[in-house]
Amino acid sequence: MSIVEDIIKLKEEKNAVILAHYYVDEEVQDIADYIGDSFYLSKIATKTDAERIIFCGVEFMGESAKILNPDKRVFMPDAAADCPMAHMATKEEILKVKDAYEDVAVVCYINSTAELKTMADVCVTSSNAVKIVRNLPNKNIFFIPDRNLGSYVAEQVPEKNIILNAGCCPRHVAITEEKLMEAKEKHPDALFAVHPECTQDVLAHADYIGSTAGIIDYVVNTNHDEFIIGTVDGVFAEIKKQAPGKKLYTVKDQQICVNMKKVTLEKVLDVLTNDTNEVFVAPDLAQEAMKPLKKMLELGQ
Ligand code: 13P
Ligand code: SF4
Repeated sequence: MSIVEDIIKLKEEKNAVILAHYYVDEEVQDIADYIGDSFYLSKIATKTDAERIIFCGVEFMGESAKILNPDKRVFMPDAAADCPMAHMATKEEILKVKDAYEDVAVVCYINSTAELKTMADVCVTSSNAVKIVRNLPNKNIFFIPDRNLGSYVAEQVPEKNIILNAGCCPRHVAITEEKLMEAKEKHPDALFAVHPECTQDVLAHADYIGSTAGIIDYVVNTNHDEFIIGTVDGVFAEIKKQAPGKKLYTVKDQQICVNMKKVTLEKVLDVLTNDTNEVFVAPDLAQEAMKPLKKMLELGQ
């Protein structure tokens, strides 16, 4: 039997569902039951009847799925696949901002640790951050951990006072304006679709700004042939499936997320076979972290 057949057989035997983010390798996306952006996958995680969730993504994704589903068993194919930005805010900084502003809402990007989520009023993803922040009653918003998504939200919701934190995604900030100008020179007819984790000078050149699912949707449904893509090139797989004729270019070489790349078919088979890399979150931590996640699911619809 092939590795794919083994995975399918074991998945059924163990009543497991496989969720995959658009950034993992195409062959891993191909064996998933559901592929999507962070918001879609967190919604799916709450809806599945399966006893086990195999989360092909990075740690904050598996952790959020476990927090939202304390009674299910959640497994990560690679326990070391972590998002560095998830750790780029501190408890001390949050307490300092809460002290400085009487009426402040802490808005926490889902790319964050469970501990940071416990200090948040609401979680957001790139696909719902603008909408959720706009509808919060608070004027002052402390946006953690990503300063770039925070700046983008601030621009879209000028009526709020958005306080920024210093975190960022190392992969998206490496997509620079200089590299973009080179790519645009090489492909002058291409439209530019970009993720809001990129810096503001890069976003200023965008024809479209949105989540991974938003970018895919835009490229597939826009009547145009060529696109420069300002996010991890894992999104190319889904675009090619839905619109094989489109010409896609990266801004720079190696537009990858090294952590998402750690997820392989062999590791998916291993967790299904040996029940390794199960995600555990301490119940009191999970209970507190669940509140802003549930609020996101409620407000983000
Ligand atoms: P999406 O929610 O847009 O899929 O983004 C997740 C992410 O990690 C972007 O770097
Ligand atoms: Fe984290 Fe950046 Fe990878 Fe997204 S692309 S998971 S923000 S390191």
